[in-house]
Amino acid sequence: MTPMTEDDLTRAVLDRLATAKDPRFAEIMAALIKHLHAFIREVDLKPDEWMAGIQFLTAVGQACDDKRQEFILLSDTLGASMMVVMLDQLRAAAKAQGAAHSATPATEATVQGPYYWEGAPVLPCGANIAPGVKGEPTFYSGRVTNTQGQPIAGATLDIWSGDGEGNYDMQLPGDEMAARARIQTDAQGRYWFWSIKPTYYPVPVDGPVGRMLDGMGRHPNRPGHIHMMVYAPGHVKLTTHLFVANSPYIDSDAVFGVRPSLIVDFEQHAAGQAPDGSQQAQPYWSAHYDFRLDTQAA
Ligand code: BEZ
Ligand code: FE
Repeated sequence: MTPMTEDDLTRAVLDRLATAKDPRFAEIMAALIKHLHAFIREVDLKPDEWMAGIQFLTAVGQACDDKRQEFILLSDTLGASMMVVMLDQLRAAAKAQGAAHSATPATEATVQGPYYWEGAPVLPCGANIAPGVKGEPTFYSGRVTNTQGQPIAGATLDIWSGDGEGNYDMQLPGDEMAARARIQTDAQGRYWFWSIKPTYYPVPVDGPVGRMLDGMGRHPNRPGHIHMMVYAPGHVKLTTHLFVANSPYIDSDAVFGVRPSLIVDFEQHAAGQAPDGSQQAQPYWSAHYDFRLDTQAA
């Protein structure tokens, strides 16, 4: 059929999916085509605007290398990554609920971000995971349980954060890991470790996504947070952050990752004996958080 109208054109493109090899791929492409055509019509897109969009996406691709993923940054800053995270967790929770009766939902997930580095050192509970890293010392503690509140012994917390000035080790000179570790819970599901209190920082703005944010009149900052991946056999892996309450940008995260349940009050303490019995020569902070993991459906 030769398209006669705009609706005919959309229909003609959709019809060509009749021979698609995979039904899920066909479903995704059909929705993409419908929304793309509707978007072009809704804003009455002009040819020069379409070309500007193509040049923008080209620049996003050209900004990617083995250290930088500008497309993920684009997805993050448009809220797409967070939408995928939210839907994935809803799906996992629905499956887990079918398998067992949950008393309390699992800890909420948020975006992984680009600074995860596989293979962080395995350290014992109580370790300082950020020796020599700039920032105010902070004692982190809590428990990992299932959604029934039963402790999970031997759960792994894979932890990473920037320093107290907002820089990740990957952004600093040298190739040493810093402020990262894997810690395992004890027999009662407890974890505790020392690190620093993270501060807010901007996502990379020296590329096309930075220009897009600027054009939108948006700031590029994320509130202070520490990343955690929490996993244990038989449980759904959780990728999340703990956010510092009252941090600048807590209400306007550039990547929409803040969830109220992940905001933690960091408590300030004078120098002296810390909860792990150690003597602290300087004032320090503490943050307490209990993680709940969904049980893996059979
Ligand atoms: C991060 O928290 O590390 C991050 C997340 C999304 C984009 C940039 C950074
Ligand atoms: Fe981060």
